[in-house]
Amino acid sequence: MTEAPPKSHGRLSIQASARPRDLIEDNPRLLGAWEARVITLFPEAFPGTLGLSLTGKALQDGLWRLGTIDLRQFGEGRHRNVDDTPSGGGPGMVLRADVMGRAIAAAMEGVPEDRARWPLVFLSPRGRPFDQATARRFAACDGLTLIAGRFEGLDQRVIDHFGIEEISLGDFVMTGGEIAAEAVLDATVRLRPGVLGNAASAEEESFSDGLLEHPQYTRPAIWQGREIPPVLTSGDHGAVARWRRDQAEALTRARRPDLWEAARKDEE
Ligand SMILES: C[S@@+](CC[C@H](N)C(=O)[O-])C[C@H]1O[C@@H](n2cnc3c(N)ncnc32)[C@H](O)[C@@H]1O
Repeated sequence: MTEAPPKSHGRLSIQASARPRDLIEDNPRLLGAWEARVITLFPEAFPGTLGLSLTGKALQDGLWRLGTIDLRQFGEGRHRNVDDTPSGGGPGMVLRADVMGRAIAAAMEGVPEDRARWPLVFLSPRGRPFDQATARRFAACDGLTLIAGRFEGLDQRVIDHFGIEEISLGDFVMTGGEIAAEAVLDATVRLRPGVLGNAASAEEESFSDGLLEHPQYTRPAIWQGREIPPVLTSGDHGAVARWRRDQAEALTRARRPDLWEAARKDEE
């Protein structure tokens, strides 16, 4: 008797010609659901935290879809090599242009050619810093393809050839792009309609109006001798709104003078 192949819940892979496989196989596949595709050497890293809580529920409900493209499948030779030594010498290895080129071609199969509708992004410390405006832009698209780098990065010719947008999570270096891809997807997917239970919470939080968010409090009324600021329990909604605005402005001025300057310019 031939045994059915085990269902993979870890390393998911696709054939070179196949479309990325959904991670949640009983996904209802709602027509037009926002879709993310991630090219990675570590498909088992997904969905990771994206499979939890609100993003996980939205994935299960088919409000968005997630597929991985296993870069190793496109590797060269018997060992499916994906990297080689840097031209010009130096330490480390670089992801090969031909291997990544094939993976990108497979990952972009069937997606709109217009990059404004479906961006192709390489996570890289050299990229433009990721921010809320970028998350909003991605959330307004039909989908997004992300390339998680490893080693010393990616052959520049692939970036130039496909017109790839480079996005950084911040001024630090991680060993790979998978965590950065998850962060970008989390920030993006929660802006899609229906993903957050209370849509108002996305409108009021940090960066939505160019400022950091005001401090938050909840019960108990006194903790370790510290009280909740009385204005918040006064029932005066106007006073609460003014207090929150003042706090947001003070925090932004102190911690993020760059954001404060930009917010002031916007108001002028
Ligand atoms: C060790 S890093 C490569 C760093 C590269 N040699 C440099 O100096 O810019 C390997 C991969 O991790 C990912 N990565 C590391 N730090 C990142 C960051 N701050 N933002 C986004 N991706 C990052 C990228 O995909 C990168 O290709």
